[in-house]
Amino acid sequence: MKILVTGGLGFIGSNFVRHMADKDKAEMEIIVVDALRYGSNENNLKDLEYEYKFVRGNICDYELMCELVKNVDAIVNFAAETHVDRSISNPYAFVESNVKGTCTVLEAIRRVNQEAKLVHVSTDEVYGDIEKGSFKEDDMLKPSSPYSASKASADLFVLAYVRTYGLNAVITRCTNNYGMYQFPEKLIPKTIIRAKQGMKIPVYGTGKNVRDWIYVKDHCEAINIILEKGNRGEIYNISSGDERSNLEVVTEILDSLGKEDLIEFVEDRPGHDIRYSLDSSKVRELGWKCRHKFEEGLKETIEWYLKNEEWWKPLIDEKILHPTPWKLEW
Ligand SMILES: NC(=O)c1ccc[n+]([C@@H]2O[C@H](COP(=O)([O-])OP(=O)(O)OC[C@H]3O[C@@H](n4cnc5c(N)ncnc54)[C@H](O)[C@@H]3O)[C@@H](O)[C@H]2O)c1
Repeated sequence: MKILVTGGLGFIGSNFVRHMADKDKAEMEIIVVDALRYGSNENNLKDLEYEYKFVRGNICDYELMCELVKNVDAIVNFAAETHVDRSISNPYAFVESNVKGTCTVLEAIRRVNQEAKLVHVSTDEVYGDIEKGSFKEDDMLKPSSPYSASKASADLFVLAYVRTYGLNAVITRCTNNYGMYQFPEKLIPKTIIRAKQGMKIPVYGTGKNVRDWIYVKDHCEAINIILEKGNRGEIYNISSGDERSNLEVVTEILDSLGKEDLIEFVEDRPGHDIRYSLDSSKVRELGWKCRHKFEEGLKETIEWYLKNEEWWKPLIDEKILHPTPWKLEW
């Protein structure tokens, strides 16, 4: 199988490349295209004992995308601007990569390789928040941030290309990921890294915002199953069912590092969603199971960050670890 992985040097994309290479080294041909934006890192795949092809490029580049999708069996589209806080200070970059970029991928597939299957990686954030219960795939889209609005728009384009042009595309919507190679500005790595250095841990508002946390390896396996068995035009929610408030997550990390008194409540992010929760029975019917409990995945993640200081050290500067980056340009 020949797969094009867009955004394959980012957090989930690089874990996905590792996952697929591990599974099927002999059978698998992987091409990674990535624009090397702030969330990416060439070191994410440096020690991989598998030869993938890397192309530095932008998914908004139509000629390039036509060239890359020409001879592949599948495309997994991870490439996106992903940090909600950054979308509040600079929404336009999110329209560019997430909406225009996805449209360019769709258009290239339509023009040069309608046989290819597209797995478009979206997010639970497109549904907005929910106080009780869980969203199903056909629930209304009600995004709260420029990030989630751009992802919701991209999803609608994918569905339109399935209906209008018959493209073989599916959409995945996953909850909050954590694990190795996650950029240090996200909650879990930020907490581990700051706590290790004895720095305060900024927690938005009261810290009561609840997320369903999934270990990135479980997300990658779900994408693999959807790539194999997902039906054209379908949307698949992916979630672990392991819900934790931000405060609980930070407290678990501090406890396991033996640190106290580092939490600092900071002014809440505008439009901050209260709770995300997904019903993932549809992907489970395809045979997917969430294999890692939060405690186990978190333990592995903490150990990885403690062992791999040379990976995260060069990525850290005051801006990255700033508690409320959305304030910078307001
Ligand atoms: N992290 C999560 O918790 C989570 C949860 C659900 C869904 N997702 C989705 O999964 C995907 C990957 O997320 P991530 O956390 O790995 O993000 P990330 O920021 O770590 O990786 C995104 C990658 O895309 C690349 N990229 C951005 N714009 C590009 C462009 N125009 N052309 C080519 N490459 C470009 C970046 O350089 C980076 O390598 C995103 O689509 C995101 O919406 C993430």
